[in-house]
Formats: sequence, C-alpha cells, structure tokens
Amino acid sequence: MKKGTYRRILLLALLLIISLLFVDCAKKEAAATKEGEAKAAAAKKQLEIFSWWTAGGEATGLAEMFKIYTSKYPDVEIINATVAGGAGQNAKAVLATRMQGGDPPDSFQVHAGHELIDTWVVAGKMEPITSIFKENNTIDAYPKGVIDIISYKDEIYSVPVNIHRSNVLWYNKEIFAKNKLQPPKTTNEFLAVSKKLAAAGVTPLALGDNGIWASTHLFESVLLSAMGPEKYKGLWNGGTPWDGPDVKKAIQSFIQILGFTNTDHAALSWDAAAQYVVDGKAAMTIMGDWVDGYYTSKGLTPDKEYGWAPSPGTEGAFIMLSDSFGLPKGAPHSEEAINWLKVCASKEGQDAFNPKKGSIPSRTDGDPSLYNAYLQSAMKDFKTNNVVPSVAHGAAAGEGWVTDFNDVMTILVTEKNVDKAVEGFVKAAQKAIK
Ligand code: GAL
Repeated sequence: MKKGTYRRILLLALLLIISLLFVDCAKKEAAATKEGEAKAAAAKKQLEIFSWWTAGGEATGLAEMFKIYTSKYPDVEIINATVAGGAGQNAKAVLATRMQGGDPPDSFQVHAGHELIDTWVVAGKMEPITSIFKENNTIDAYPKGVIDIISYKDEIYSVPVNIHRSNVLWYNKEIFAKNKLQPPKTTNEFLAVSKKLAAAGVTPLALGDNGIWASTHLFESVLLSAMGPEKYKGLWNGGTPWDGPDVKKAIQSFIQILGFTNTDHAALSWDAAAQYVVDGKAAMTIMGDWVDGYYTSKGLTPDKEYGWAPSPGTEGAFIMLSDSFGLPKGAPHSEEAINWLKVCASKEGQDAFNPKKGSIPSRTDGDPSLYNAYLQSAMKDFKTNNVVPSVAHGAAAGEGWVTDFNDVMTILVTEKNVDKAVEGFVKAAQKAIK
C-alpha cells in the first residue's frame, strides 16, 4: 500500500471514531436532559385547594388570595379544585370520597364550628395548626368566640378567612321605591309587603333551592324571628324543645312565606335567585352576604341598585358562619399548604379576599375603608349584635344533623305539613343530642 493511501485510510478511520463519539455524547446529553425534566416535573411544587367557590364573588375572592400566594411563592403551581354548587351541595360528597380514599387535597374549605370539628377533627383526619397562630402571634387578632369554634382539646384546626352573615334580606331599590314600600321589619310586615307586591304583579321573594340548603337557610332566619336569639341558641344544645309553640309558629310562617316565592325555585341556584332581584323579576331574596359579593362582581353598588336589611324579625341578631381552611393528614404538599394557611391568616390575605367575597374579615384588624357600605354595616353589627350560629352552614350542628334537617325541609317544602315537620325536627334533634 502506498504511503499516501495508508494515511488517507487512517484519517478517515479517525474521523469516523470522532463522529461516533460525538453522536454518543449527544445521545447521553439528550437522555440526561429528559431525565432532568422528568425529575423536575416530579418535584414540581404544587398546591391543591379544594372549595365550592365558583359563582361571582366567591371565585373572585379566592382568585385574590391566589394572587397573593403566587407573588410570595412564584414557583408553586396552584390547582384550583372546585366543585360547583352553593354551600357545598356537591363538593362535600366529593371531598368525603377523596378523604376516605386517602386522596386528600392540600387544603380544603370547611365551615368553622361543628362541620370542622365533628366531621374531620374528631375523626382524626386533620393536623393541628396551632403553631401557625403562635408563630405569628396572631391568636389575639381573632375574636375569642371564633377561636373557640375552630379548637378541639387545646389545639386549633383551621384558619377562618371570613365571617358571613346569614340573616340578610336583599331588595330591589327601584321596585320598593316605585311601590312606596319600606323593607319589612317583622314577619307580619313581610307578609303585608309581599301581598302588595303580588297585587302589583311582582314576585315578592326569590328563592333558589335547587340545593335544599337554601330553604334551610331561609328557615333559620324564620326560626330566629319566631323565638329570638336565646331560644334559638337553645335549639342546638337541647335547651329549647323542637315541639314547642315557637318552632310550630316558625313552620307556619315559613309555609306562608313560601307562598310568595317564584314558582321555579326548585330549579334555581342561590345566585340565579339573587339575579332575579336585580333583574326586577322578584323584589327580595333572603340569603347570606355572599350575595353582596355576587352583586359586586356584576358591577352593582349597595344602596344604589340593591338595598339590604336584617331578615324580618331578626334585627339585633347576627346569624354567623365562617369559611375556613385546614390541613388534612397526608396532604401531598404540606409545606405549600402551610404557606397557604399563612396567607389565609394574614391581614393582607383577608383584606384582599373579603371585599370581593362579600364577607368581613375574621380578624378584628381589617381595614374598613376597603369594604363597601353593606360590609361596613356588617362589621359594626358583628361587634354589637347577639351572634348566633347558622345551621345551614355548619356552625350550629354536625353534618349528620344538618343532613337530617335538610331531609325534613325537603318534605316540608313539598308537603307543607306542620305536624310532620315538627316530628321530623324532633327526631333529628334526638338523634344528634344524646
Ligand atoms: C356557604 C359558604 C359561603 C358561600 C355560600 C354559597 O356555605 O360559607 O362562602 O360560598 O355557601 O356557595
């Protein structure tokens, strides 16, 4: 072989080896990148928040707290796990299935009081989070009564983000002015106003009980009106009998009130009923102050398009409930969840959330100037009124009692039988208060 040919072969072989090495390197590099990507995906920080906040006001408020969280923890992906349906009419069952199946979200919406304690804490499903309050020295920022209903055996189990009022009557200002009416202060006044409205061709009261809780919600106001705050409180601890004259009177009034509601109430949600009022399809609705959040989300202003008053016969009393978030045992991203709870507990978080949600902060140091006229009135009333718990929203009674209560309501709304309802309420109370 000539010397030149030999060199050329050598050179070619060398080039071949180099290019093979190059391909191998590139392959290894690609594999490493893929592996890195997979690892990063697995370790990706996430936070799954479970709630039923999908309507106007509810969803807007939640988004405000997410914004704050993201500004503090930009590398965490928030999974907004919502199940639509007011008062958790669908969400609660989904949550129960997930919890039973060992698939808890990182944090979930739960009403302060019996719903939190009886359903989840006593059952051993929640982590205590007292340290969050202690670390930030925030226990004193909350009213004692609020801390009491989220505590069990000296530990705190959730962060209350707000205080809602259940006993509110919302009305269409224009309809009331046109018919020269004042918001009714008693049940009798309510019936008189309703008769006038009906005679003028206006549906008096919008109800949206496609979830029966909305009827229970209306009924708790009627119960309070019939017996006053002290006896009302006694209903939940055995102090007031369910077969006494006051409960009977409340059921009778409730049946009369039902006679003034929209015929399609069983097909409507609470927000659709609230919309009837501002659309002029009905004059009033009795619903919690998430209605204020809903109207705000539609660009409406309290005292302009809509007015408010304590539901008839309940002035001076405040039926309260509170939305809170806790830390379930086995939360997949507990560190992220704890940071979420810190946002929920902060003044900044609460003052961003509540003006949109239509609730007042559970902390006592919220800035009133951020809240509209209705919410400022609620802030005042919460301080001065006789505060009593809501049954429709988990504060007054445990989940089992609420379910039995709702079953009695379903029959009452359709059959309108006073004695049968009394019998049902008595049985439900006996089962719950042992
Ligand atoms: C309540 C809840 C409120 C509001 C309402 C309607 O149970 O506490 O925050 O969302 O249901 O969905």
